[in-house]
Amino acid sequence: MSKTEKTAIIVLAAGYGTRMKSDLPKVLHSIAGRSLIEHVIHTGCSLSPSQFVTVLGPHTRSIESHIEAYSSIAIQEKALGTGDAVKPALQQLDNFEGNVLILYGDTPLIKTETLQAMLNCLETQHVCVLGFTPEDPGQYGRLITKGNELQQIIEYKEANQQQRDITLCNSGVIAVRKTALDQFIPLITNDNAKGEYYLTDIIGLVTEAGLACGYVETQEDEVLGINNRVELATAERLLQERLRNEAMLAGVTLVDPASTFLSFDTKIGKDVTIEPHVHFSTGVTVGDNSYIKSYSYFEQCNIEANCTIGPFARIRPKTSIESGSKVGNFVEIKNSVLHANAKVGHLTYIGDAEIGEETNIGAGTITCNYDGKNKHKTTVGKRSFIGSNTALVAPITLGDDAFVAAGSTLTKSVASESLAIARSQQKEIKNWNKRRKS
Ligand code: UD1
Ligand code: CA
Repeated sequence: MSKTEKTAIIVLAAGYGTRMKSDLPKVLHSIAGRSLIEHVIHTGCSLSPSQFVTVLGPHTRSIESHIEAYSSIAIQEKALGTGDAVKPALQQLDNFEGNVLILYGDTPLIKTETLQAMLNCLETQHVCVLGFTPEDPGQYGRLITKGNELQQIIEYKEANQQQRDITLCNSGVIAVRKTALDQFIPLITNDNAKGEYYLTDIIGLVTEAGLACGYVETQEDEVLGINNRVELATAERLLQERLRNEAMLAGVTLVDPASTFLSFDTKIGKDVTIEPHVHFSTGVTVGDNSYIKSYSYFEQCNIEANCTIGPFARIRPKTSIESGSKVGNFVEIKNSVLHANAKVGHLTYIGDAEIGEETNIGAGTITCNYDGKNKHKTTVGKRSFIGSNTALVAPITLGDDAFVAAGSTLTKSVASESLAIARSQQKEIKNWNKRRKS
């Protein structure tokens, strides 16, 4: 088979996932900000398959809306085993010729290069299984090999003691020529300890027919299958390690990698430093040379180059902080733009606002963006100065080079170059305290 052979991918996700003890289907639980099944689908898509089918059960149909952009859906009416689950997918691959990769929806850490190695193996073999040698082989299926050849997979429940002593196990990922699937899937029976159709039985059938099967071995970390929330947390840790290492190798300083939490799509530029205890939800980019101080939290926002953020900053969705800006402690910003070199140093809420370049927002400034029914916009021009403890009651617009006296509650717009003061005047009664004491 040549490398130009087409590839189809089948993802199996019709199992019950009862051990998650969850109302949410197992494969919709997330690690690093994306569902398990979307991780699998994304990795599959990196191979540019010509067809993609995901097998769901009647109880997991709610997953459909999450994946239909990438994959067609086949339904396995009853979970009769992995060998049976492939059948509804095959119906959709009726006219397909080439190689088929079968993945599990609950095994999200699989890498593109491993899948590619398996497809390469099909140049000489009819089936290629992904094996691994786990620390504890437990109840995994065992690979029975002779040299580089795979002769059989024996499920744990069917295995004798000698076979259980084998440490090379089945990850579940299988690459197989479509011709072999068509020929041998119908021959799999459920005459076994679990009364299930085992996909793994295809190996014995193929070798009995005189055709060759091979295997590729990988690390246990890559084929971790998630059945419960302990394994979910393990997968999160492994994926975080991967993402942190990628970031560091690309030129990001993580002062304490273990306390930096990234999402699958976090993009951080060169020479960015991230202090301990920082969390990036999805959709965040940080430009070169920016400096992120401890205990800051980011969601769906864009931080440009040369910014300093935190400590204790909360940057919420639809926020854009342009280059050279500074955001200090206990500042929350939402749905706003800080233009270049703006400064918001301390104890401030900026919501639904646009702050001009080089403007300084004093400590304790609040944009009063919500009137109890609707949200309103605040606009502040360039090089303006907002004194401390100012309330900007939106909708409101301040021009360029405006100056607001500390403690003002502004309800009306302010023109460029003007000073606005909105506070009661200070009175001083001479010797008042002296009289009181006498
Ligand atoms: C399977 C393998 C075993 C391997 C192990 C690795 C078989 C018979 N055994 O066992 O050799 O070591 O995975 O984790 O394949 N599914 C369906 N429909 C079904 C049954 C399962 O879609 O009727 C899906 C599940 O959602 C899951 C995957 O197939 O994504 C694996 O099923 P599971 O029951 O967990 O297989 P294991 O018993 O763990
Ligand atoms: Ca399993």
